[in-house]
Amino acid sequence: MNIKITQTDQSRISELDFNNLEFGRVFSDHMFEMVYRDGEWVEAEIKPYGPITFDPSLMALHYGQAIFEGMKAYYADEDTIHLFRPTDHHKRLNNSAKRLCMPEIEESVFMEALEKLLQLDYKWVPETHGHSLYIRPFMFASEEYIAATVSKEYRFYIITSPVAAYYKEGFNPVSLTTSDEYVRAAKGGTGEAKSAGNYGGSFLPARKAQQEGFTQVLWLDAKEHKYVEEVGTMNIFFLIGDTLITPQLAGTVLPGVTRRSVISLAKDWNLNVEERRISIDEVFEAHKNGSLKEIFGAGTAAVISPVGLIHHKGETVTLDREKIGPFAKKMFDAITGIQYGNIEDTHGWIHPVQISTAVLY
Ligand code: COI
Repeated sequence: MNIKITQTDQSRISELDFNNLEFGRVFSDHMFEMVYRDGEWVEAEIKPYGPITFDPSLMALHYGQAIFEGMKAYYADEDTIHLFRPTDHHKRLNNSAKRLCMPEIEESVFMEALEKLLQLDYKWVPETHGHSLYIRPFMFASEEYIAATVSKEYRFYIITSPVAAYYKEGFNPVSLTTSDEYVRAAKGGTGEAKSAGNYGGSFLPARKAQQEGFTQVLWLDAKEHKYVEEVGTMNIFFLIGDTLITPQLAGTVLPGVTRRSVISLAKDWNLNVEERRISIDEVFEAHKNGSLKEIFGAGTAAVISPVGLIHHKGETVTLDREKIGPFAKKMFDAITGIQYGNIEDTHGWIHPVQISTAVLY
């Protein structure tokens, strides 16, 4: 694909304080944009990051045809940036697109856009271990028309943001509460797509949870309010005895790329891994009988985030630990070790982008 490149004449990088990064507040100098019109993606362009203008009748604003991805780039050395499992993110983007009746994007186009954008903005990839460049590809319906129907036009963007930890807790365990009032996803819905509406719909319950002093909601299934699903910003894992258990993917849980990486590494370490239905009662029971060793979340933004407490119907599971548990720590070290290039990538998860070849013009 022919990507037109217009470089900024005023880089903002000197305004960035790499020692005080927040999640998702600052965006690098450039963004990728393309338009879907008359059945094809056209006008691919990398240009200075900045506002985009539309009519108030933009369809995405009315009917929520909007999807996104979250992935990361890591500083490996002065010549190399590592993308972590970008083709898995690309596949998930296309799966989300299919569910929302949106056009797919060819892998070669997605990868070229990513690589060229990174080569231009490589200085925005933080060098500190634990920090990274968060990459947010997103697509939305851009026809200007307010009939409730499938849009004929779409925009696809990639923006990037240098980030530190997602949760302000860092490695301190987060606290979760279930909700007996709200659900995130029901079978047949959009739960396994990374669609904007899934997140918007979870904000009220999340706000209520935060007002009660919890970090996030631990979602239960919509039908019985009994089986654990996910956290919305991450998938969830329980280490019970010597078995690592995570809810299976059955249409309502986001198929996390970090989730899949955790499962592969745990299997490499000969741990028994079960992807199955796990009820909240089973978690509480395991806590009572002493077999619940660790709980942690896994996601691109969150990486591995220890869970110290789960509240459910007036009862609480508390893991008496101020910091990350030993298994979650081992997993965090392994995943980040691969991401930054300090541990051999035996799975082919790393896609290196060479900076020294960044001669674009
Ligand atoms: C991610 O982990 O990349 C996410 O998309 C979660 C979130 C920041 C909404």
